[in-house]
Amino acid sequence: MCGIVGYIGHRQAYPIIIKGLQRLEYRGYDSAGIALYDGNTIKLSKTKGKVSDLKNKIESEISTEGTLGIGHTRWATHGVPNDVNSHPHYSNSGDLVIIHNGIIENYDSLKKELIKRGYTFQSDTDTEVLINLIEEIKKNDNLKLGKAVQLALNQVVGAYAIAVFDKNKPNEIVVAKLGSPLAIGIGDDEFFIASDASPFIEYTKNAIYLEDEEMAIIRRGKKIKVRKIKNDILVDPYIQELQLNLEQIEKGGYDHFMLKEIYEQPSAILDTFRGRLLSKEAIIKMSGVEDNMKKFLAADRIIIVACGTSWHAGLVAEYIFEDLARIPVEVEYASEFRYRNPVITEKDIVIAISQSGETADTLAAIKLAKSKGAFVFGVCNVVGSTIARETDAGAYTHAGPEIGVASTKAFTTQITVLTLIALRLARAKGTMSSSEFRHHLIELETIPSKVEEALKSDAYVKTVADIYKNSTNFLYLGRGFNFPVALEGALKLKEISYIHAEGYPAAEMKHGPIALIDEQMPVVVIATKKGHYEKVVSNIQEIKSRKGRIIGIVTKGDTSVKELADYVIEVPETLECLTPLLTTIPLQLLSYHIAVMLDRNVDQPRNLAKSVTVE
Ligand code: F6R
Repeated sequence: MCGIVGYIGHRQAYPIIIKGLQRLEYRGYDSAGIALYDGNTIKLSKTKGKVSDLKNKIESEISTEGTLGIGHTRWATHGVPNDVNSHPHYSNSGDLVIIHNGIIENYDSLKKELIKRGYTFQSDTDTEVLINLIEEIKKNDNLKLGKAVQLALNQVVGAYAIAVFDKNKPNEIVVAKLGSPLAIGIGDDEFFIASDASPFIEYTKNAIYLEDEEMAIIRRGKKIKVRKIKNDILVDPYIQELQLNLEQIEKGGYDHFMLKEIYEQPSAILDTFRGRLLSKEAIIKMSGVEDNMKKFLAADRIIIVACGTSWHAGLVAEYIFEDLARIPVEVEYASEFRYRNPVITEKDIVIAISQSGETADTLAAIKLAKSKGAFVFGVCNVVGSTIARETDAGAYTHAGPEIGVASTKAFTTQITVLTLIALRLARAKGTMSSSEFRHHLIELETIPSKVEEALKSDAYVKTVADIYKNSTNFLYLGRGFNFPVALEGALKLKEISYIHAEGYPAAEMKHGPIALIDEQMPVVVIATKKGHYEKVVSNIQEIKSRKGRIIGIVTKGDTSVKELADYVIEVPETLECLTPLLTTIPLQLLSYHIAVMLDRNVDQPRNLAKSVTVE
């Protein structure tokens, strides 16, 4: 989704903003723009395409002087991606300039009203409507910029993170937030604005994350004023110390962030259970669960809400919670849940899973569940994100920043956190004996080194990728704990290689998808030992007899599948409930290598956004 960056202080704004926009590229976008102000003239440049295109354009077109500036990467919602629809946008007078992440839902009626009053519009965007609404209010009532922004936002329905400046106020930027994230970095007599802290991490570790319906007036050399947009109350903002560092958001020698993040999984999983899993003492310590143990134990059921890859992690969790802790679980697409009048009671626990912590549908599902009295527990990766703040309690994954749009280490660390919770509840409920419990802890502790071992198949996976890279369809099959892994494998392939892929529970194949199988169809089958191994081997026979091409993901040392499959990729043996943490690794690598061979933009696949802040 759109990314915003801004700066006001004593340095030149341009290098900070252009680098900041590059850091936000992972969010997904189709055009970019910058406005710089040196106190005399506003210099604005924007273009369809990448930040590198913008950089070339700006450096050949305009002077980059100015200690105030705002920049934007746009993910098109209203109006096609082109130069005109790109941000920043001027107001009709040319005095006000805005960047905006989000959607103004009532823009059409506001636009009609403004047209009646003589306003004209260059672009098809809702954002240009907002800046002219601010101008109209400011002009009519002779108001200061901050007040006009506030009154305009009170007329707006939708979501926004905005930054606005006024040509007549060279020392001020006004920002506001509802639904889309906005962080303000606080340096020495300088301020940074961004969708997340990555654009300013080398300048300051101190940041304010605006809450929904808050705005801030940022003045050069002055203390920031934050107030509530609706009731005008001044608030004392909480200044956080950021834990992020620069190395975490750079590629560190890998060709792509996705590959780096795939390889970070051993340490990410370890970081996620460090201090929580104490195998010697045979305990799991998670304060979010411990503090709310009564609620967990009294719960009739757990409802998991999430989207995309996080939803797949939720599906894995369904198997784990039901198997280990014997708690009924329902897994819901947040986007469906929020609109279908679900039956939720105070005895339900809702677990919301989100890497970014900003997904609009998941956030709306949380709000709905809370309004019905359910206790909402969050599993997020981004510290301080909106979902992390909106939930009643939670547990972070400690994956570190995930920059590649395709989620990898977030998935495995989400499964890790959810497994820890299931184990803790199983112990508290007595559904597991102490020896079983201890055995699971010991085995979970070995997973980082087993992921390391699974990663050693990389070169072989690459040769398999080369063989199948020109296939136009793929089928992914798995059963039990590995059925969601099949779905995730198919999602990974389609999102970064643009090859059509479908995931199915292996036994469902005969109820339809088997009709697709011929010698052109690669079928990736997860056939690890334990669980439904024999059944899956039978499914493989069925594919084989229809001449399908079989890529088996098998337990190390397997011989039966090897005899049937065209290729097998081995993963180490582990407990059945932990296999998703291993079987997912070759599937991530397979999609990565195919996408690279097809020359796709692996880290920023077309049309996709890292953080989906619109519904
Ligand atoms: C797929 C992917 C998406 C996200 C989904 C939810 O690789 O990244 O499907 O999983 O948009 O995002 P979060 O987890 O940030 O709520």
